[in-house]
Amino acid sequence: MLLVPRLGSGIPLVARTHEMRRLRAAFARAERGEAGAVLLSGDAGVGKTRLLTALGEHVDGCGALVLTGRCIDVREGGLPYLPFAEALAPLGVATDAVVAAAVRARPALGRLLPQGQGFEEPRAAEHPPMTSNDRETMVRPRPEQDLGQLQLFDAVLGVLTEVAESRPVVILLEDLHWADASTRNLLSFLLSRLRAQRLLVVGSYREEDVHRRHPLRGLLSELVRLATVERVDLHPFGAADARRFVEALADEPLPADVVADIVSRSEGNPFFAEELLATKTECNDLPAGLAEVLLSRLERLSPDTRRVVRVISVANEPVMHAALAEVSGLGELELDEALREAVQHHVLVVLSDGSYTFRHALLQEAVYGDLLPGERSRTHAAYAARIQARPQGRGHDAKLAYHSLQSSDLVTALPALLRAMDEAEKLGAPGSALRHVEQALSIWDAVPAADRPEGYDELRLLHEASYFAGTSGEPERAAAFARSATRALTPDSPVDR
Ligand SMILES: Nc1ncnc2c1ncn2[C@@H]1O[C@H](COP(=O)(O)OP(=O)(O)O)[C@@H](O)[C@H]1O
Ligand SMILES: [Mg+2]
Repeated sequence: MLLVPRLGSGIPLVARTHEMRRLRAAFARAERGEAGAVLLSGDAGVGKTRLLTALGEHVDGCGALVLTGRCIDVREGGLPYLPFAEALAPLGVATDAVVAAAVRARPALGRLLPQGQGFEEPRAAEHPPMTSNDRETMVRPRPEQDLGQLQLFDAVLGVLTEVAESRPVVILLEDLHWADASTRNLLSFLLSRLRAQRLLVVGSYREEDVHRRHPLRGLLSELVRLATVERVDLHPFGAADARRFVEALADEPLPADVVADIVSRSEGNPFFAEELLATKTECNDLPAGLAEVLLSRLERLSPDTRRVVRVISVANEPVMHAALAEVSGLGELELDEALREAVQHHVLVVLSDGSYTFRHALLQEAVYGDLLPGERSRTHAAYAARIQARPQGRGHDAKLAYHSLQSSDLVTALPALLRAMDEAEKLGAPGSALRHVEQALSIWDAVPAADRPEGYDELRLLHEASYFAGTSGEPERAAAFARSATRALTPDSPVDR
């Protein structure tokens, strides 16, 4: 039986006094009616989630309503507004009369909240989604900003403002480096309208991922110029705090040289320190880089467990038991045993809805990065097949498109992207619709003409891209797509284009 290490989530918060003080001060101002936002940056594993959890506990103790939403890594292909949808979901099922009335008064929220919560089907944007006739002629209103999107943004701001009248509200948005374009637009809208609401928005992101050309970079520099927005940078632990952290993790006193070794190798990163300690309790030689540390710990698990962990790494979202049974091909008993082992060794965690996910995204990244191309592609294909066989749900086509693209099944991906584009438009998310149509354009030529969806051609996609770029606030790109469309015009193109 392998030793199972403790984790930082099981010990009291180490260090971070200064950062915690700033976060609490921002909340105290929000409580007094000075709305604000904090952008919390730091490397993966440095302790952003842990700090936000501690803040959540603190403000919950002060009577605030804490709403948490997470972004996931689906390369801009995911469901639009995912973190806001997750954060606001509790409002849709609230029994509190004030909250319920605030939500009911804003039907546009139906696009964000799960259906069947007193909402009708999501209402289409003010200009209805394109009919096939519109598509033919491409005459659509071209408002400065998409009206459906504005209605939704107003509804989100309105509901938060109204709920915050009766109790302070804190929104925690995790991992914004993975936010889709629509989420970024909504974040920008919300943060630029912070006034006297009793509202605090805290967003975390991985500093190392937001390189110069990352889409979040420009937004961040705009946001920090707002008087209501401050940045808190979370640095790795210094040597003394790292030592305290490692000693707190270990159940029994560790030899000084082991502590010193882990402290120096982890470079103050608590996640790395935890994994090094776990590896150390399982074997004597410590591998060098983080990926090797993570993988060497996994190598000690049974083959079935490793298989399940690899299958989950491809999902890019928490996976339910039934999906795992189908995609992994393991029998019930083997699967249960494998999941138990992975959870016991803190590789996976079980969420409240019974789904399984990695305890930290870095583990997922290491496992996914280590897959052989064949296995990766086969597993993506298995998820795609499963999604195709299920009844349609929100985000279905975006997920299908993602897994089909990753398994190079472009014939499935192309129509799925176009349906995901339509869905994003209906949800009032032109930024996401734009990403989908851009991806469709990028694979258009690679899909044999006979397999392309009926009623579409490249010119039409360029028009769509131009329209969505315009309505999501990217006028230069709208113009560039329009220019490409003009170039793509051939003498036999219909005259009304
Ligand atoms: N200040 C801290 N005190 C105790 N545990 C911590 C602290 N910071 C991080 N940890 C632990 O380290 C691990 C990685 O931290 P996490 O918050 O998940 O990092 P991030 O969100 O920045 O990737 C988690 O197990 C967490 O509980
Ligand atoms: Mg985190």
